[in-house]
Amino acid sequence: MPWEPVKLNSGHEMPTIAFGTWKLGNGAGPIDQVDQAISVGFSHIDTAQAYRNETEAGKAIHDSGLKRSEIFITTKYSGLNGLDIKTSIKNSLQNLGVNYVDLYLIHHPRLAVPDIPTAWKEMEKLKEQGVVKSIGVSNFGVNDLAVLLASTKIPPAANQILLHPYVYATQAPIIDYAKKHNITIEAYSALIPLTERPGGPVDVPVKELANKLNVAPEQVLLAWVKAKGAVVVTTSSKKDRLQRYLDAGDIALSDEEITAIDAAGASGSSTEASRKLFTGILIIAACVALTIAGLK
Ligand SMILES: NC(=O)c1ccc[n+]([C@@H]2O[C@H](COP(=O)([O-])OP(=O)(O)OC[C@H]3O[C@@H](n4cnc5c(N)ncnc54)[C@H](OP(=O)(O)O)[C@@H]3O)[C@@H](O)[C@H]2O)c1
Repeated sequence: MPWEPVKLNSGHEMPTIAFGTWKLGNGAGPIDQVDQAISVGFSHIDTAQAYRNETEAGKAIHDSGLKRSEIFITTKYSGLNGLDIKTSIKNSLQNLGVNYVDLYLIHHPRLAVPDIPTAWKEMEKLKEQGVVKSIGVSNFGVNDLAVLLASTKIPPAANQILLHPYVYATQAPIIDYAKKHNITIEAYSALIPLTERPGGPVDVPVKELANKLNVAPEQVLLAWVKAKGAVVVTTSSKKDRLQRYLDAGDIALSDEEITAIDAAGASGSSTEASRKLFTGILIIAACVALTIAGLK
């Protein structure tokens, strides 16, 4: 299967497409869905304290009968219940029913308390203890990573970020920075052009390519992520779609095709920026009008 694993800077290999458990809720639902993803061929499960379904993910992993070494588990420190990193990883390991996770991420820079270097030292200790194989971050910008790298003994193996064509231009600096420092980028919510912004400019090249290559639009977007050198973190409730996600690893887009998607994304992001600016101006105008009316 062409989603070849990537070698992280920690020396460990990571499968380059992950099944995520955000929004899956609790109970039988997430157990069945993680089970379905594993049965289709996913070998990387992405969860987090904040998703509150580590226990369900752990149960599905356990019931799959796979050896621990055959499944890659990512979870995240989300600052749940105000607990510190040391206590949180203990809880996560217990929830998941494992004695180590493959990748442990600080979910967001604002959770790195009291500051990034101090929080990172706690992460380094976990790696040294062997309870996590690799450590990384999520939603870190260039400045956050620069602060981290200035104080680190062990560099982050990965930075999991929002990445889809409409935000590609704004995320390009962090992607370049990570590449320069051998930090793997993981892309979440890559399918936003289909799920939240259907009808936008990205639909045009994505649909054209889907027709030309005889694949589904979601497969084109995942192939675009792959072309950007990022690991895909996605999800689906549907077995056939999960299979299509895996099959998307076979799609190699040409430079021209990638550029067409980038350009459509950039045009959509400026439309979005103008829309936000226009809305902001309207709100300010309304506030000024109300204030003037109140003064009369
Ligand atoms: N680190 C972070 O801060 C962070 C933030 C957000 C997410 N994540 C991780 O990333 C994972 C994925 O996030 P996401 O759900 O935002 O990812 P996504 O990959 O952008 O979206 C997945 C959704 O797309 C839908 N979909 C697929 N193809 C479609 C199509 N052609 N038309 C309409 N809908 C389509 C699927 O619905 P069906 O179920 O109907 O197939 C599925 O619910 C999460 O579970 C989590 O693990 C991390």
